[in-house]
Amino acid sequence: MIEKEPNLLSRLDQGKLELMSQIFKPNHSPNSVCLFDRPTPLDLLIGDHVQIPGGLLVKRDDLASPIVGGSKQRALELILAEALNAGIDTVVGSGFAGSTSLTVLAVACARLSLRCIAVTSPVRQTPTVVSNLAIAVAHGCQFKVVPNGTPLRSTGSAVQSVVKEQVGQGRRVFVVPFGATHPRGIEGYAQAIDELAGQLKSRRLLVPTRIYVACATGRLALGLAIGVVARQLPTKIVAVRVAPLAPGFEDFTEILEESSTVEALLINQDEILSRVRLVDGTGGQPYGAILPTGQRAAKVCQQMGGPSLDQTYTAKAFAIMLAELEATPNAHGPWLFWHSANGRHLSPLRRDEALKQVPGSLFCGVQ
Ligand SMILES: Cc1ncc(COP(=O)(O)O)c(C=O)c1O
Repeated sequence: MIEKEPNLLSRLDQGKLELMSQIFKPNHSPNSVCLFDRPTPLDLLIGDHVQIPGGLLVKRDDLASPIVGGSKQRALELILAEALNAGIDTVVGSGFAGSTSLTVLAVACARLSLRCIAVTSPVRQTPTVVSNLAIAVAHGCQFKVVPNGTPLRSTGSAVQSVVKEQVGQGRRVFVVPFGATHPRGIEGYAQAIDELAGQLKSRRLLVPTRIYVACATGRLALGLAIGVVARQLPTKIVAVRVAPLAPGFEDFTEILEESSTVEALLINQDEILSRVRLVDGTGGQPYGAILPTGQRAAKVCQQMGGPSLDQTYTAKAFAIMLAELEATPNAHGPWLFWHSANGRHLSPLRRDEALKQVPGSLFCGVQ
C-alpha cells in the first residue's frame, strides 16, 4: 500500500499511482517472500565532519535482520519468490566467498528450507570474509570451490556443471545469478525508497539531496534511482564503484533495459539516468583491495558514532562521500549513506565451530 502523502504523491497522476501500488506491493504476496524486518533503521549522524544542513543520515540495511544484514536481501525477496513459485528445492549461487551476496543467499535459503550451493573461487581470509563465511556455513550452505579466474557467471561451465549434477540427483534447481543480478531484484531496491520516504515523513526529516551507495553490478544504485524518480523525490544517487568496470557496465543504460519496473511505471529512462552518477571508488586497485582512504573513512564513521564499515564495499563509498563533503562545504543537505553490507556476526564460539566446516581450499591467504 502506498501511503497518501499529499506533498509527494499528489504530483503523480492516478494511473501511475495505481501502477505503483501494484509494483510496490506488500511483502507477503506470492511475488515476494519476507526475509528481513522493515523498516531498517535510519540513523542521523552529527559531528565535526558533517557540516551540512540536515546532517548525515545512514540507512542501516546492515542490520536488516538479527541473523544477517545487507541490501541484497531486498533483491532476493523477489528473486527467491520466483524460485519458490517454480517449485524448486535447490538454489545454486555464485560469487565471492564471504561476500554479503552469498551470505544473505545462504541464510535466505535456510529460512525458506531450500538447499544452497555456492560456486566460488579461493579468497583472502579477511575478518569480513571469515565472519560472513561462518554465517553461510552455519546455515547449511555448501561450497563448490573452483580455481581462481574461473568465470562464475550463471551460464558458465562452473555453475552449469553443478546444476547438471544436482538435476542428475533429482533436484529441482534455480540459479541465482552472480551478485543477485536477476532483473526482478532491481524492483526490491526501488521499493526501499518507499520505505525510506515513510521514515522521513514520520520523523519529519528533510529529504536527502544525495544518497551515497557502494556499486558493483549497478543494480542497487539503479534501483534506488528508479525509486526516487517514481516517488518524485529530488534526490541524486552517487554510485561509488568498488570493482573494476565489468564489460557492458560503462554506464547504467544496459541494466536499465532489463528492468520491467521502469517500463511498467512509464518513467522516462533519461530521467533515471540523470539521477545516478557513477564515481570510481577503487583508486585503480583490484576488487577487494584495502585502500588508505577506506581505512580513514571507517575510522571517521566510527568517530561520528556511525556503524562499522567493510573495506571492500562500504568504506570505499563512505570515503568518496567524505571527499565530496570536504570539496563542497556549502552543499545542501541532508546527505544519506546507504549501508549495504552485512553488519551481523556470529558469537566467536559459533563462528569458530562453523569455520571448521569451511573447506581449506577456499582460502588463498591472510590479509
Ligand atoms: C555490501 C555490498 N554493497 C553494495 C553492493 C553493490 O550492489 P550492486 O552489485 O547491485 O551494485 C554489493 C554487491 O555485491 C555488496 O555486496
